[in-house]
Amino acid sequence: MVGFGMTPLINVNSRQLLRGIIPVAIVIALLRVYFIKKPDKWLVPLPLINHQNIHSNLNCTAVVLGDPGSLKKAQWLAQNRDYRRKVKLTDEYYINATQDCGNFRLTRGYATQAFHEEMDFPLAYSIVAHHKVENFERLLRAIYVPQNVYCVHVDTKANATVAAAIANIASCFPNVFMVSQPVKVVYAGWTRVQADLNCMSDLLNVSTEWKYFINLCGQDFPMKTNLEMVRDLKALEGANSIHFNPIIKSQKWKVETTWAPVNGHIQSTGKAKGPAPFDLSVLKGSAYIVACRGYIHSVLTDSRIHELMEWCKGVYSPDEILWATSQQMPGVPGSMSATSHVYHANSIARLVLWIGQSKCHGHFVREVCVFAVADLPWILSHHHLFANKFDVESDSVAVFCLEEYLREKRLAEIESDGK
Ligand SMILES: *[C@@H]1O[C@H](CO)[C@@H](O)[C@H](O)[C@H]1NC(C)=O
Ligand SMILES: *[C@@H]1O[C@H](CO)[C@@H](O)[C@H](O)[C@H]1NC(C)=O
Ligand SMILES: *[C@@H]1O[C@H](CO)[C@@H](O)[C@H](O)[C@H]1NC(C)=O
Ligand SMILES: *[C@@H]1O[C@H](CO)[C@@H](O)[C@H](O)[C@H]1NC(C)=O
Repeated sequence: MVGFGMTPLINVNSRQLLRGIIPVAIVIALLRVYFIKKPDKWLVPLPLINHQNIHSNLNCTAVVLGDPGSLKKAQWLAQNRDYRRKVKLTDEYYINATQDCGNFRLTRGYATQAFHEEMDFPLAYSIVAHHKVENFERLLRAIYVPQNVYCVHVDTKANATVAAAIANIASCFPNVFMVSQPVKVVYAGWTRVQADLNCMSDLLNVSTEWKYFINLCGQDFPMKTNLEMVRDLKALEGANSIHFNPIIKSQKWKVETTWAPVNGHIQSTGKAKGPAPFDLSVLKGSAYIVACRGYIHSVLTDSRIHELMEWCKGVYSPDEILWATSQQMPGVPGSMSATSHVYHANSIARLVLWIGQSKCHGHFVREVCVFAVADLPWILSHHHLFANKFDVESDSVAVFCLEEYLREKRLAEIESDGK
C-alpha cells in the first residue's frame, strides 16, 4: 500500500476518470497516514544489512534455545572464511556510510521511537572504545533509543582511522557525543576511571533528565531490550547495582603498594601504601556499574569521594576498587548503607564468564571468555543487563543471533503495546 502513489494515475487523460480517482486517492492517503502511525511500522533494529541471504541456514531462535543441530550449523558458519569476509564492516565502510547520516540511521535500522514508559526513564551511557569499530557500532545500535544520552570516550592513543570512524558515527545522532576531554587509557591505571569521570561530567551537563548511568566498553553487548532494562532499573528503587566483594588475600598486592604508569604500563613503585581514608575497608568489584543519577553527581562533587579517589590513584586497577569501596560511605546516593535491602553482590550490571567458572566455547583474553555463538544459551540463562566480551572478528554470529533475539523481543513488545 505504501508504494501506491498518485503520480502515475494523474496522467490518465480523462476528466471522468479523475473525478472517480481523486476521492479514492484521498482515502488511500488517509489510510497511509493511519498505518504509518501504527506500531507495525516502527523501526526496530534490523539484522545485518544485505546479508539475510547468507544467513538462510542459520536459525537463531533454535540457537538461543540450545538446539544441538542448529548450534553446530551456527558454529560452522561463524568460522567459515567466506562468510566472515562477506559480513565484515570495515572502518572505511563506516567513514563513508556516515557521510549521509539519514541514510546511515535508516539502513542500519536505528530505533526512532520508544514507549512512554521508556521516554519517562532515560538512561545515560559512558562507552569507552579504542578499537573494533564494528563491535562498537553494533553495540550502539542495540542500545540506541532517541531519549537516552550516550557519551563515547575514544582513547587519545587510538588509531586515527578508528577515531574518525567512531566520531563520524557519533555525529549522526543528536544524543550521541564524543567526550569533551579524552585521555590516554593505561590498562589497570587511573586513567581508565578518569575516562568514565569525564563522561559522567559531560552526561550531567548535557541532560537533566536521565535517571540511571551505565558504563560500557566496546566489547559489551546487551542481553535485554531498553524497555526491559528500564523495568529492571525501576525495580532497584533508586539503588545502585555495583558488584563487590571484600578484597581477598591473593589480591591484596593490588592495594598494598603504590602503582604508577611507566611508559604506558602500570608498575609498582615498591612504596608501601597506607590504609584507605575514613577507615573504609577496601572492596573489590566490577569496573562496570549501574548507578543512579544522584550517585554520579556525588562522585563528581562529594569531597569524601574525592579523598577516596586520591587514595585510589595509587592502586592497581582503581576502577575495580573505587566504585565498590565508595558504596560504604554513609549518605552516598544509592549506596548499600542507603538501600540495605538490595543484594549488592548480585549485581545486574555485567555478566562475565571468568576462567574456570563454566565452559567457554570461545577463547580467553586476560581470564575472561570472549564468547562464541555456542555460549548464547548460557548467557541468556542469566539476569544481567549486559554481557562481556564479544568480538565480531572472532565470532560475529554470536552478536548476530543476540541482535535477532533482541529484535524479536522488541517486536513482541510492540505487538503487545509494551504490556
Ligand atoms: C527455528 O527454530 C525454532 C525453534 O526450534 C522453530 O520453531 C522454527 O520453526 C525454526 N525456523 C525455521 C525457519 O526452521
Ligand atoms: C559510500 O556511501 C554511499 C551511501 O552513503 C554509497 O552509495 C557508496 O556506494 C559508498 N561507497 C563505497 C566505496 O562504499
Ligand atoms: C588502523 O586500524 C585499522 C584496523 O582497524 C587498520 O586497518 C589500519 O591500518 C590502522 N591505521 C593506522 C594508521 O595504524
Ligand atoms: C556545561 O558545559 C559548558 C561548556 O563546556 C560549560 O560552560 C557549563 O558550565 C557546563 N555546565 C554545567 C552545569 O556543568
